[in-house]
Amino acid sequence: YQLKIYLKMDADSDLPVSLESWRSSARMALQDGPWGYLEGAAGSEDTMIENIKAFSRYRIRPRYLHDVENRNQSITLFGRKQDSPFIIAPIGVQSIIHKDAEYASAGAAASLGMPYILSTVSSTSIEDIAAKFPESEKWFQLYPGKDENVMKSMVNRAEKAGYKVIVVTVDTTMLGWREQDIKNAYLPFLQGEGIANFITDPEFLKMLETSPENNMQAAIEEFLMVYVNPSFTWDGFRKIRSWTKLPILIKGISSEEDVHTAVKYGADGVIISNHGGRQVDGSISSLEALDEITGENKPEFTILFDSGIRHAADAMKALALGASGVLIGRPYCYAMAVAGQRGIERYLNQLRAEFDLQMALSGYSSISQLGRHTIYKKSPY
Ligand code: FNR
Repeated sequence: YQLKIYLKMDADSDLPVSLESWRSSARMALQDGPWGYLEGAAGSEDTMIENIKAFSRYRIRPRYLHDVENRNQSITLFGRKQDSPFIIAPIGVQSIIHKDAEYASAGAAASLGMPYILSTVSSTSIEDIAAKFPESEKWFQLYPGKDENVMKSMVNRAEKAGYKVIVVTVDTTMLGWREQDIKNAYLPFLQGEGIANFITDPEFLKMLETSPENNMQAAIEEFLMVYVNPSFTWDGFRKIRSWTKLPILIKGISSEEDVHTAVKYGADGVIISNHGGRQVDGSISSLEALDEITGENKPEFTILFDSGIRHAADAMKALALGASGVLIGRPYCYAMAVAGQRGIERYLNQLRAEFDLQMALSGYSSISQLGRHTIYKKSPY
């Protein structure tokens, strides 16, 4: 595989290789509005930048003369083995990135055997994705909204459709201050994008006076009223916990205190994440939050990580700091903008090949060998 890529012998040799060229090709493929929505972050965008910069403050210690002939990248999550440590992050409104929207990203995940997290605000419904990819590992991400019946209904729908994990995102009690979107006067929901799970939800439909086909504008307005909830607290989470036996991950955690509370309230794990810097400007980088949270000991509790992963080395560092798996966010959307499902598959295949080499050249043949001893932390001064 590596040789084919090196010698440009494969069918996808027309596609970009470096992350930067995927990104610049995506920029060319998208209009200002969708690009700003995908790439933008909160306020000065410093959190997004810091997420990426933090990785260079942690360095890998390569070890030599270890047998790395036979390698595997597998991890086990909730009792199921996954071939690689990569998980597809929930990203809403994918119809603004590519016409195939979530069919492209869920299709790539299914063909590569990676867990796929469908967003609450996806452009394709829970059931449509499940019907198209019945066998693949799918998780559903829930934004705690204002209407309990709608939330409960979505959790039940996901469970019924075969999704295996519920991911409750807690960092989005309202949308962050995103200047690119304000400058472009662009909010995809206003055009009815990203509301597929609502207009197919029996509880949501009960709240409307007429069907969305008759009055889409009213459906959009109702959606805007209920899809997030600034008054949501741990008591609300306790209710979500009582609705399902599926494992629940809390996504958007950046502090040790919140991890302890998550354990107390019955979560099965957390995703350390700051939403790619889209919510709190000036926040701690996600990697440094992970470092603080996991401390010296690898935690028993499931800890996943996202925000800033761009290369295989980044994934290695997060895994060494105690994450059990890592979510890929913006990069797969760059690849989707360039070439739909084919682009995503190409990008993720490259990432996996790079990860395999990166591990082997550093002297490790499996993820279980990674730990704090494999990382050197540079002094910030
Ligand atoms: C997101 N993210 C996100 N998270 C979530 O829980 N539900 C969602 O609907 C979305 N939507 C979304 C849209 C866009 C355009 C982006 C860029 C991100 C956050 C996402 O799951 C993940 O946390 C970040 O993408 C990680 O940051 P990086 O690595 O992409 O910078």
